[in-house]
Amino acid sequence: MPTDMTPGRWQHTGDYLDTVFGRADGHLAGLMPRAVEAGIPDIAVSASVGRMLLCLARLVEARLIVEVGTLAGYSGIWLARGLAEGGRMLTIEPNDLHANFAQRAFEGAGVADRVEVVRGFGTPELERLAGEMPGAADLVFLDAIKTEYPDYLPHAKKLLRTGGLLVADNMLGGGGGGDWWIDAPPGQNASRDAADRVNRLVAADDGFEAFCVPLREGVLVARKR
Ligand SMILES: C[S@@+](CC[C@H](N)C(=O)[O-])C[C@H]1O[C@@H](n2cnc3c(N)ncnc32)[C@H](O)[C@@H]1O
Repeated sequence: MPTDMTPGRWQHTGDYLDTVFGRADGHLAGLMPRAVEAGIPDIAVSASVGRMLLCLARLVEARLIVEVGTLAGYSGIWLARGLAEGGRMLTIEPNDLHANFAQRAFEGAGVADRVEVVRGFGTPELERLAGEMPGAADLVFLDAIKTEYPDYLPHAKKLLRTGGLLVADNMLGGGGGGDWWIDAPPGQNASRDAADRVNRLVAADDGFEAFCVPLREGVLVARKR
C-alpha cells in the first residue's frame, strides 16, 4: 500500500464515495448481505464503482454489454440499469451457485428481461462471442480471474465496437486492498503482475485511449479507437 494511501485513509475515502455517490435502492443495497448468507463471497464492486459502471453504460448508450464474472449479480444490476432502451447484457459465470443466485437477483431487480447469464469461463466465452459478433459490444466489463485478464484482452477488443469501452476492475489492487497492490515488486503475486501487464498493454495500444481510475481497487477504462 503506498504511503499516501494508508489503509485507514483509503478506506475512509472509499466509504465517503460510497455514501455520496453510491445511493442504491433496497434490493441492490441488501443484495450482497443476502449473497453472503447464501455462501457467496463478499467480493462485489463497491457502490461507487457500480454507479460509475451505470454512468459509463449510459455515456456509450449501451445496447450490448458483456460482463465477465457475475458473482451475485451486483455489478450486473448497475450495468443493466445503464442499458439503453431495448439493450441487453450477457454476463459470464462458471459457478452454478453464483449463477443461480444472480439469476434470481436479476429477476428481483426487474432486469431479467434484458440479462442473460452465460454459464461458462471467461476466455472461451469471450472468444466465442468475439467470433460470432465482432464489433457488437458497447461495453465489456472484466471482473473475474485477474491472471486471465491478458487472455481476455484480445477477445474483448475484437468484441467491442469502435468507441466502445473496455472496463476492468482490480487494476491497482485486490483482496480488499490488502492482498496485493500495484506498487509491489514484480514476481511476487501473479494477479499484480497480470494487472500490471494489462495496464501497460492497453496504455501502449494505439487502438485504445485509456486511463485508470484509482477508485477502490482501481478501474481501467479504455475507449476503442
Ligand atoms: C470478483 S467476482 C465478480 C464480482 C461481480 N462482478 C460484482 O462486482 O458484483 C468474480 C467472479 O468470477 C467468477 N469466475 C471464476 N473463474 C472464472 C472464469 N474463469 N471466468 C469467468 N468468471 C470466473 C467467480 O465465480 C466469481 O463469481
